[in-house]
Amino acid sequence: MSEPRVLSTREGYDRWAATYDTMGNWLLAFEEPEVDRALGPVSGLDVLDVGAGTGRHAIRIASGGARVTAIDFSEEMLAQARAKGGAEYVNWILHDANTPLPFRSGSFDRVLSGLVLEHIDLPRLRPFFAELRRVCRADGRVVVTAMHPAMFLKGISANFRDETGQVRPRSYEASISDYVNAALGAGLGLGRLSEHRVDERLAERFERARKLLGWPALFVMELRPNYPAGNRTNVHGGGVT
Ligand SMILES: C[S@@+](CC[C@H](N)C(=O)[O-])C[C@H]1O[C@@H](n2cnc3c(N)ncnc32)[C@H](O)[C@@H]1O
Repeated sequence: MSEPRVLSTREGYDRWAATYDTMGNWLLAFEEPEVDRALGPVSGLDVLDVGAGTGRHAIRIASGGARVTAIDFSEEMLAQARAKGGAEYVNWILHDANTPLPFRSGSFDRVLSGLVLEHIDLPRLRPFFAELRRVCRADGRVVVTAMHPAMFLKGISANFRDETGQVRPRSYEASISDYVNAALGAGLGLGRLSEHRVDERLAERFERARKLLGWPALFVMELRPNYPAGNRTNVHGGGVT
């Protein structure tokens, strides 16, 4: 089998956009209920979705009564999002999250970033988290999900197939401690950390996930912008579920 073709993250997603929603991606199905649980009720809230892609979360959250702003640096992913029903209730912005976010401090009650972290290079993780924190209200919540770093050990990162074979938008290997330390270093407090293993129920729905049975595949961080100093590493209900 030929080596996967590695593209820049942006070009990779531009090329993936047309088929992203139709690939039967088990990680998305695995992640969605965790995002909803971590965000809690969103009606009436201001929500920012960073790396919103084809709008999977943003449109659902807007339909739950939130005022949603969604940013992504892939024009093609955003074009797919904008073409969907319900997209008219979301404010879509083309923006690279490796640069300062174009919002005033404290603009949002919830700041979400779903499955983007693996595309942020190690030195940029801390400024990335710092921006999520800055735009979140003091009593708000930052929710970040990621493909579990254990997947890197299996040689797995975001990928798709096109007519040339397997393609990978660039990802950067990191560990859980890299992610957690970057968030803490950015002044965020850890409210809850959870890791989720592929189980039989998921494998029944997605045959492709069966080879990962028992492996942690998803990682979710619930963060607070103003957790009391000295209590930052108080992890509630962590551990592998
Ligand atoms: C795996 S997709 C996830 C999309 C969406 N959050 C979801 O969960 O369905 C990753 C997304 O992050 C976006 N992305 C990666 N790096 C980014 C950056 N530096 N700035 C903005 N978007 C970025 C990609 O363009 C892509 O749309």
